[in-house]
Amino acid sequence: MTKILHKLFLTEDQMPQKWFNLRAVMKEQPDPMLHPGTLQPVTEADLAPIFCEELARQELDCTHEYIDIPEQVLEIYKMYRPSSLIRAYDLEKALGTPAKIYFKYEGNNTSGSHKLNSAVPQAYYAKAQGLSGVTTETGAGQWGTALSVACAYFDLSCDVYMVKCSYEQKPFRKAMMNVFGSSVVPSPSTLTEVGRKILAENPDTTGSLGCAISEAVEAAVGSSGSKRYVLGSVLNQVLLHQSIIGLESKLAMEMLGEYPDIVVGCAGGGSNLGGLIAPFVADKIRGVKNPRIVAVEPASCPSLTRGKYAYDYCDTGKVTPLARMYTLGSGFIPAPNHAGGLRYHGMSPVLSKLYHDGYMEAVSYEQTKVFEAAVFFAKHETILPAPESAHAIKGAIDEALKCKETGEEKTILFGLTGTGYFDMVAYENYLSGKMTDYIPTDEDLQKGFDSLPDIPQNKGI
Ligand SMILES: Cc1ncc(COP(=O)(O)O)c(C=O)c1O
Repeated sequence: MTKILHKLFLTEDQMPQKWFNLRAVMKEQPDPMLHPGTLQPVTEADLAPIFCEELARQELDCTHEYIDIPEQVLEIYKMYRPSSLIRAYDLEKALGTPAKIYFKYEGNNTSGSHKLNSAVPQAYYAKAQGLSGVTTETGAGQWGTALSVACAYFDLSCDVYMVKCSYEQKPFRKAMMNVFGSSVVPSPSTLTEVGRKILAENPDTTGSLGCAISEAVEAAVGSSGSKRYVLGSVLNQVLLHQSIIGLESKLAMEMLGEYPDIVVGCAGGGSNLGGLIAPFVADKIRGVKNPRIVAVEPASCPSLTRGKYAYDYCDTGKVTPLARMYTLGSGFIPAPNHAGGLRYHGMSPVLSKLYHDGYMEAVSYEQTKVFEAAVFFAKHETILPAPESAHAIKGAIDEALKCKETGEEKTILFGLTGTGYFDMVAYENYLSGKMTDYIPTDEDLQKGFDSLPDIPQNKGI
């Protein structure tokens, strides 16, 4: 048997020139986003004060299967793409599994993660529209870093509202964003009305992505039109940009004569997973192939596995449009001991719909199990994974161990979304036995569900 290469790099010429819009092939569309005032489906005009025009168009585009990647975005992508597809031989050996494990490695850029794939086009469209800058939220800091890198390139200002507990846990992430010229404040802050309100109600809050989104949206809307808000996950446009991960993976696997039986990815707001699985789910929808798709989420923030499929706000301050998604309620605040990222209360409407319609499965793991998998992986594959990515590693390892039991030689593909160099406090806590797990009780979750909007669309949920 010929041994397949450890790594496959596509050439720059083989890098996809178009993003793939999965919505165009879905049999049923996700329910439309609703305007928070009228509860009617949002239009491009509704989104214009918040998002860049082209991004608003992409957000609502359910018909174009492929969308051209602008020339300048392709040029920047080429600074770090195509990314490698790696065969995890040493992990397979260490597990003693007959499964073949591949991973798509997105940690090969300065921001350290897949987030740059969407940060670049979002900054590009902001510049093309003549804006002076953008505002955003960041949780663990990977998105804020990626956007800072992209904004520095396009000479745009970048105001980052960083979830307070991450801001305190990860000072170097902040420093890195500052290197690229961004301003970074802990959220909730006193800079915005919504931040002040959240602080007045809950002065000791450690923050959440939902709070930080509210602040960033307010800052953009109040900028007299000079700035727009950009988001690093959840939205259709972000999944669209991330489809480059899946397109490259599929092409590279084809060149190796492979096709995954199982595709595994971590799921926070759903952007990397949505991008990775897009062409494979399209095959599944078209009935060409039937890969299993597995979303992995933290047990402490289990939007898919324990959430409700309901219309909810994308933010805590309830200023954004409503999306129908698996959600824990926009009032849900994950426990501060949760280090492993993926803290968002909801899930991408596209992924939520796929999950609801049975195209995708979901599992959840406690963070100590996730870090155990991360350390095992690092020792055998030499890459120190981001805690978020380690959820996918844990999912892939468990699938490979199932193959060991059954003797099946399945092909597993997972997304390794980033590196964990800024997560060393969490790694140290894990190694010294200080890391604890938290699984919300049904009563804890009920508090979040109580914050779901009482609107006709949510009747009977
Ligand atoms: C490295 C990494 N992977 C995955 C995620 C999860 O985000 P998403 O679900 O949008 O891919 C994050 C989010 O911050 C991240 O930093």
